[in-house]
Parts: sequence; C-alpha cells; structure tokens
Amino acid sequence: MRRVAILISGGGSNMMTLLRAMEEGDFPARAVLVLANNPDAGGLEKAAALGIPTAVVDHRPFGKDRAAFDAAVDAELRAADVDLVCLAGFMRILTPEFTAGWEGRMLNIHPSLLPLYKGLHTHQRAIEAGDAVHGCSVHLVTAALDDGPVLGQARVAILPDDTPETLAARVLVQEHRLYPAVLKRFASGDQTAIILE
Ligand code: GAR
Repeated sequence: MRRVAILISGGGSNMMTLLRAMEEGDFPARAVLVLANNPDAGGLEKAAALGIPTAVVDHRPFGKDRAAFDAAVDAELRAADVDLVCLAGFMRILTPEFTAGWEGRMLNIHPSLLPLYKGLHTHQRAIEAGDAVHGCSVHLVTAALDDGPVLGQARVAILPDDTPETLAARVLVQEHRLYPAVLKRFASGDQTAIILE
C-alpha cells in the first residue's frame, strides 16, 4: 500500500477525485497528507472533512527563496513517510533539488496533450492555434517544467464555439477520469501509459 501526498494550490477538484478513488477497497494506495502552499486553498477543508491530515507551507514568507520553500515542503513529506506525491493544481515551480529527491515518485496533471502547451493558459493557446483536439496529461515530474515521461492522456475535441472556459470545463471532466486511473496503475507498479478517448 503506497502512502500518497497530494499537493494543491486551489479548489482541489482533482484532489477530491484522487481521495475518493483511494477510498475504494482495491486501490493500491492511500492518502496520508494533503499539503497546500496557500492557506486559503479550498481543497484543505474538503480533505480535512474526509479525515485526511492537512498541512500548509505558505510560500509567501519565503519570498524568492524557492530552495527554502521546497525544503520545508520536503520536510513535511518525509515526516509523513510519503511514498508517492501527486501534484494536483499545485501552481509552484519546483527546484531541481526537490524534484530529484522524488524522481520516479512524483506525478503531475497538466491541462494539455504534452508535449504541447507546457506552462499556463493552455486552453486559450490550443484554441488560438486552431487545434481540433486538446486534453490533459499525467506525467512523472522531472526538473524541467511540465516535462517527464507521460503516464496517461485523455483527448477532448475542441468545438467551434469553445472559449477557454468551456474547453477547460470539459478537459477537467477528463482530468477527473484520468488521474485516478493513472495513479491506480502506477501505484501497482505498472508504468505503461493510459490513453482515454
Ligand atoms: C487543473 O485543470 C490542473 O490540470 C491544472 O490546474 C487545475 C487545478 O484544478 N494544473 C495546472 O495548470 C498545472 N500547471 P483543481 O484544483 O480543481 O484540481
């Protein structure tokens, strides 16, 4: 049974789907910590309501010292004896030292079909490019932003009238299917990619 920490910055809808999935009896992982960099992250209360331990490492007192912030996050993860880390809407750039410490054990969900559209504003960029298809990816985290081996993807058609908001909403539905499926497979020791249509 792998011990999972979920790192969030906001509302935590992906976090909730992971927490619900891990409550299922045959899931090879369980949540031991939800950590936010923002004390106002809505996901914190939702996790606490499910009885999951929560922690906050507010990034603001650290200013530009990303290494010190990452070290504080790392200390929380080590103290909780975490095996796997799931980034779920965690909007901080991590240092190479931190990612190296969790290499092969840290997953992220990103709202694009990687390697397309790393970074922010992915839905708007896909629409502006005239793409027919968009989607989301779960990948292993490496030092480079939104890089690392892809563990799963789900595709979403872009409709003629789509705005970044309408497209984001449909992609999010697929994120909620994809992330628990990938975590389940990954936690069981299988790293073959999952492709959802
Ligand atoms: C999700 O769409 C996730 O893919 C995205 O933030 C949203 C978080 O929503 N992540 C990134 O953009 C990471 N660069 P949630 O808090 O409801 O899960």
